[in-house]
Amino acid sequence: MPATVIVGLQWGDEGKGKTTDVLAEQVAMVVRYQGGDNAGHTIVLGSEVFKLHLVPSGVLYPHISPIIGPGVVVNPDTLISELDGLTARGIDVGRVRVSANAHVTMPYHVAQDRVAETALGDGRVGTTQRGIGPTYADRAARIGVRMADLCSPDALRAKLARVLPDRTLVLRAAGMPTDAFAIEPLVELATGWGDRLRGHVADTTALVQGALRRGDHVLFEGAQGTLLDIDHGTYPYVTSSSPVAGGACTGGGIGPLQVDEVIGVMKAYATRVGSGPFPTELDDAIGEGIARRGNEVGTTTGRRRRVGWFDAVSLRYAVGINSVSSIMLNKLDILSGLDEIRMCVAYEIDGRRVEAWPSSADDLARAVPVYDSFPGWREAIHGVRALSDLPENARRYVTALEDHAAVPIVLVSVGPERTQTIERAWRPMRHRATVPPSGAAVSA
Ligand code: IMP
Repeated sequence: MPATVIVGLQWGDEGKGKTTDVLAEQVAMVVRYQGGDNAGHTIVLGSEVFKLHLVPSGVLYPHISPIIGPGVVVNPDTLISELDGLTARGIDVGRVRVSANAHVTMPYHVAQDRVAETALGDGRVGTTQRGIGPTYADRAARIGVRMADLCSPDALRAKLARVLPDRTLVLRAAGMPTDAFAIEPLVELATGWGDRLRGHVADTTALVQGALRRGDHVLFEGAQGTLLDIDHGTYPYVTSSSPVAGGACTGGGIGPLQVDEVIGVMKAYATRVGSGPFPTELDDAIGEGIARRGNEVGTTTGRRRRVGWFDAVSLRYAVGINSVSSIMLNKLDILSGLDEIRMCVAYEIDGRRVEAWPSSADDLARAVPVYDSFPGWREAIHGVRALSDLPENARRYVTALEDHAAVPIVLVSVGPERTQTIERAWRPMRHRATVPPSGAAVSA
């Protein structure tokens, strides 16, 4: 399966880093395709814990080329400090490549994010305040700074001269100090980033296409999750990019027919960070307990994640729009010890039963979950390595999830470490036809 997309099926934080980690041995390249340093991957390798925001988790393996694709927005300060931090821990970061076309999160984007959130008051999105929305807004308005510009002071100066007057007015009106947003200090800062990152900036689309031509296995790693997608999520309570599997094409540099497998990743319960509707949210001791056992604290912001029962309505939706071919179920162990486990299978909205995901966040905010109830299990399951060895009630729960998804759950995580995983034998849904080397004659 040369091209595999890993996509979050919920509101992010599904444990996609662990999926990459489990598949890493067979993979030659890992490509981040959207988002920025709003994301956070936590990877546990033995006694070491790595927290990464921008660099793909594949960096921890010497045989993997980690790529930051053109669909990602890059805060160079974050990238440089991650590269330095990894180097200090003995990890070779020389292989990391960043797309020359990836947009740069500038200091004024971060300031704008703060100002916009404050202005929204009670209607705020609850962003990570990393400047993600304003960076993507400038990209869409065709006035963004790209990684290639960091190595070209004159081009940079010209771009900043176009953008800064407006920006300074808006920020000053909001009471922000704007001295740091003058052209020359910013050019100096950005060319400093360029000097440091020059060796990493590349045409990553050519690298990805070259790897696929060679038949290398390339993993496309989504950040955030389907329900935070700018088009398909709970707008406006979403991020400003496309975490769905389709985003791997636009943001990673491949075509839809080059994707062989889409692995959807989900937790055995639901979490959400920031504002927005969350029908199955638990505001009680059960939710507290799940949050504590599951260590549900945001990697980037340190905020406590909101916790709720698993929502099979959103699962059915996410499987469809991502064309998910197989699923990794994470954190099943966190539910051990509960007397009863609930799963939302439909909603009641304005007195009507609704089985399909509502496209409007307002409708979702009025949705009352309809639950199926499952008896829990008491046993610890960290040591289980085969589905058949799970307690019967845990098996029943996994089977119900699989029935709703209508695609196989092929990996089940029963603990944070890579080895704490149940692997079922599975076959990729579709094989990519072998591409003849360029210039080779194709026989009829
Ligand atoms: P932004 O991406 O910082 O603009 O934030 C927009 C929304 O996406 C907010 O609700 C954030 O909490 C949420 N969000 C952004 N990144 C992540 C993530 O990695 N995990 C979970 N939620 C996220």
